[in-house]
Amino acid sequence: MAKKHYQSVVVLTGAGISAESGIRTFRASDGLWEDHHIEDVASPEGFARDPDRVHRFYNQRRDQLLSQSIEPNPAHFSLADFELKFSENFSRDFSRDLSRDLSKSYTLITQNIDDLHERAGSSSPLHMHGELLKIRCSQSGRIFECRDNTTPLSKCPCCGMSGNLRPHVVWFGEMPLYMNEIYQALNSCDLFIAIGTSGNVYPAAGFFETAKMAGAHTVELNLEPSINGSQFAEQHYGPASEVIPHYVKALLAG
Ligand code: APR
Repeated sequence: MAKKHYQSVVVLTGAGISAESGIRTFRASDGLWEDHHIEDVASPEGFARDPDRVHRFYNQRRDQLLSQSIEPNPAHFSLADFELKFSENFSRDFSRDLSRDLSKSYTLITQNIDDLHERAGSSSPLHMHGELLKIRCSQSGRIFECRDNTTPLSKCPCCGMSGNLRPHVVWFGEMPLYMNEIYQALNSCDLFIAIGTSGNVYPAAGFFETAKMAGAHTVELNLEPSINGSQFAEQHYGPASEVIPHYVKALLAG
């Protein structure tokens, strides 16, 4: 742990934070990409080739997420608790400085498309890879809540036609979402924490370097060292449901 009190915190989460909630990660031996070819189910080309297969892939993941067995775990809850307490402290300590934008003090970026951060109480995670419980019209770009199964014949709520709906998920080769907000937060943070991500996929895998260039203290909290693990200033390894609550407790204790 470096500084006593941080003023601007950015947290990046990956599939590892949801693993203990029962959602498979991507690159473990039992990972999601062991059963599917990425290019078939997570690329625009795969969707154009076989939209029914892609709709079925996301229907299965949506069904699993909405089943009773999938719940946020202590890692999700401790991040939500940190956000609440950190923002309270921040507004008390810095409310005199009205020039500061208090809402920018804590940014949660997630690569995950599940809604476990929200269900644990995180206020506005930036889902840079999209959201499983949303669907998008390919024509208008409009986004709708979606908790049901979809097919290529599903009619779009905005244009009433079938064939226009696609998962609101960022596929390989597509631009991630919220990149302006993300780099604004990274370039002004003094603490960057990466949780449960392997460092395989850019641009997320490079966020720690941007934060480091901005002078931030960088921390990796993971089951085991990620590809860039040794380049972080601080590391703690173990299951997220144990490591995150422990780290957050120490952080709040200053
Ligand atoms: N606690 C903490 N970390 C864990 C746990 C756990 N219980 N279980 C696994 N991990 C770690 C793994 O060690 C690994 O480093 O989580 C990481 C998961 O890595 P990936 O499966 O590669 O997932 P992620 O880094 O989120 O992938 C990034 O790649 O396929 C795309 O769009 C997909 O958003 C995803 C992106």
